[in-house]
Amino acid sequence: MKLESIGPIGADVADIDLSAPFERSTEEGLRTALTAHGLLRFREQRISPDDHVRLASLFGPPAVYPFRPALPDHPHVIRIVKNPEDRTNFGGGWHTDGSWQAEPTRATVLRAIEVPISGGDTLFADATAAFRDLSSEMQKTLRSLTGVYTPELIHGAGAQHSAVAGEQSEAQETASGSPPAEVEHPIIVAHPDTGAPSIYCTPVHTHRIKGWTREESLPLLEFLMSHATRPDYVTRLQWRPGTVVVWDNWRLFHNALNDYPRKRREMHRVIVRGMRPQPAPAASNGRE
Ligand code: SIN
Repeated sequence: MKLESIGPIGADVADIDLSAPFERSTEEGLRTALTAHGLLRFREQRISPDDHVRLASLFGPPAVYPFRPALPDHPHVIRIVKNPEDRTNFGGGWHTDGSWQAEPTRATVLRAIEVPISGGDTLFADATAAFRDLSSEMQKTLRSLTGVYTPELIHGAGAQHSAVAGEQSEAQETASGSPPAEVEHPIIVAHPDTGAPSIYCTPVHTHRIKGWTREESLPLLEFLMSHATRPDYVTRLQWRPGTVVVWDNWRLFHNALNDYPRKRREMHRVIVRGMRPQPAPAASNGRE
């Protein structure tokens, strides 16, 4: 297994066949690599839905996603499809997967099935580096704030950010269990493996800062998102059929670009359940 950096965040992983059983050392190596790089890309993989779930399971228990149908016989593998006639795309707009859950999605494993010849890239931003570069006083203020997170802004009736959820045609809509209406998490979280502080809130999943109104909260949420997605922190990832990517939602924001009108794109996705986010320790500035 060989690792090579692909930009401000992320690494290509070569010399690995994701359809073959993993040695214990490979499993450990992949976990260590995800912690170190935040984003791992595997090219030209021919894997089955079972292999997809097996890879995801290395990073924690696979979880059911309540807003999209799963493959028959594979309840953890959802299809993310943009058809030529669709205008919006699922995952378009900066966000992190599942921060509205009580135990938010830890990692996502995305597999490209069909991609347009050009366009349809995904951008990834390093929210840990972005926090590190804020002033000490700003960091201190942010560490004291709690966010109120909800799926309603993108999945609720009359959702303000429905473009992030993509078009929810009847055929695609699904509901298995009801996610909580609102949960509270810190807006700066400590990474569960490294303790490194990371910006976690987003205007699309964080309704407000606890104790503030939405209107009062939005300028701060939008500032943090525009700061965290400056080019210095962003890797642009191109897909080919057979590309498989794993990313750490507790360290990265991502944005699926919607720049391929009248073309089809199909991805399969498995998410990995996390744990309750913990606040970053008071003195932690991400610089040491
Ligand atoms: C997602 O937001 O999980 C999907 C990203 C993509 O389709 O590139």
